[in-house]
Amino acid sequence: LPCVQTSPQTPTLGGMSETTSSFQTAPVQTVAISLDDRSYDIHIGQGLLSRPATWAQLPKAQTAMIVTNDTIAPLYEAALRQAIAGHFKQVHTVVLPDGEAHKDWQTLNLIFDALLSRGCDRKTVLFALGGGVIGDMTGFAAASYMRGVPFVQVPTTLLSQVDSSVGGKTAINHPLGKNMIGAFYQPVRVVCDLNTLTTLPQRELSAGLAEVIKYGPIADMAFLQWIEANIDALMGQDPQALAHAVKRSCEIKAWVVGQDEREAGLRAILNFGHTFGHAIEAGLGFGVWLHGEAVGCGMVMAAELSHRLGRVDAAFVARLRALITRAGLPVRGPVIDASDNAGHYIAHMRLDKKAVGGDIQFVVIDGPGKAQVCGAPDSMVRDVIDACCA
Ligand code: NAD
Ligand code: GLY
Repeated sequence: LPCVQTSPQTPTLGGMSETTSSFQTAPVQTVAISLDDRSYDIHIGQGLLSRPATWAQLPKAQTAMIVTNDTIAPLYEAALRQAIAGHFKQVHTVVLPDGEAHKDWQTLNLIFDALLSRGCDRKTVLFALGGGVIGDMTGFAAASYMRGVPFVQVPTTLLSQVDSSVGGKTAINHPLGKNMIGAFYQPVRVVCDLNTLTTLPQRELSAGLAEVIKYGPIADMAFLQWIEANIDALMGQDPQALAHAVKRSCEIKAWVVGQDEREAGLRAILNFGHTFGHAIEAGLGFGVWLHGEAVGCGMVMAAELSHRLGRVDAAFVARLRALITRAGLPVRGPVIDASDNAGHYIAHMRLDKKAVGGDIQFVVIDGPGKAQVCGAPDSMVRDVIDACCA
């Protein structure tokens, strides 16, 4: 079957080290996203919410709207409000219900209700304060409110700091498919305050590690090796290990997005594990498995497919499975439909955004550190699902 994707060159390694003890982590680090007039910086550091420099040179506007949820609001809304108050005449907040199950039209509309009922004009700056669900929905609201207003990503989960807040993919779910309705729309800034991760439940930390691990096999085996050496520190919330993981992940994502903002080709490699993972999320119902859990397990399935396609050896699959296990993530897929489980997965995957005319496209590992997008025979995909599901 033809492959439609070229492999990336490994981006320059910035400050890579083997163990946490050799870190020289600066208090605030910046990763640039270079996209012509849509370029912006990702700020990474501890205590950024309360640092005045974080908020310098925001777009000029009378009004700001903080979009958050009922879990995050009591933790961080007051700090963000205080930090940005001097920049706007009015700072409003809309608090959404928490959870992937609310990443839908109804909840999105609550943002528009809040904006319109408060008379927010087309210069209003939105602040997405939360994880990937809040970030994706706020971004989509910003893309479409009055045909586009600026927004700032303030990600508070590991997953959102290493992935979803960066690169401008915004969306809501449809019952038939994950992230099916959305837009490419870049934020004007990303602020990753590592201190917010201290309140993150362990299950959510593990979910974020799935997206961190992802960057290794697709682009940077040295980073994969570093994660293996530091997985216990990461699981234990070691601040320096987390700082490095966030920075390196953002560097790799910035490198990919800088070349292919709208996923004409290369950017699809960031979807490693997601074709299977999205089928798990949609198949079980959104929110039953966390996105990161589905991606973790999906990477094992995609690695197994890569092996059966002759691209990596069995040892590579075992290595990835072992790391994903150590990250506290599931490595066996759920049985969604006992009568025809593989058929159920395949039906969901035919709706994946990468599919062409119903032909599923998978991100496969084409030798360690390189990824490609390609098709696979249905029979092989069935065998992988049967072999990888409980
Ligand atoms: P999430 O947004 O649901 O957050 C996870 C949970 O943690 C929620 O209950 C949230 O309220 C809570 N939480 C957030 N920050 C917290 C904190 N600091 N302390 C305590 N609790 C906190 O999930 P997520 O894993 O951040 O994001 C997953 C979403 O991101 C999915 O919808 C996925 O599709 C999307 N995503 C998008 C992209 C993209 O490129 N746009 C990339 C990857 C994932
Ligand atoms: N998380 C996939 C992407 O940003 O393209």
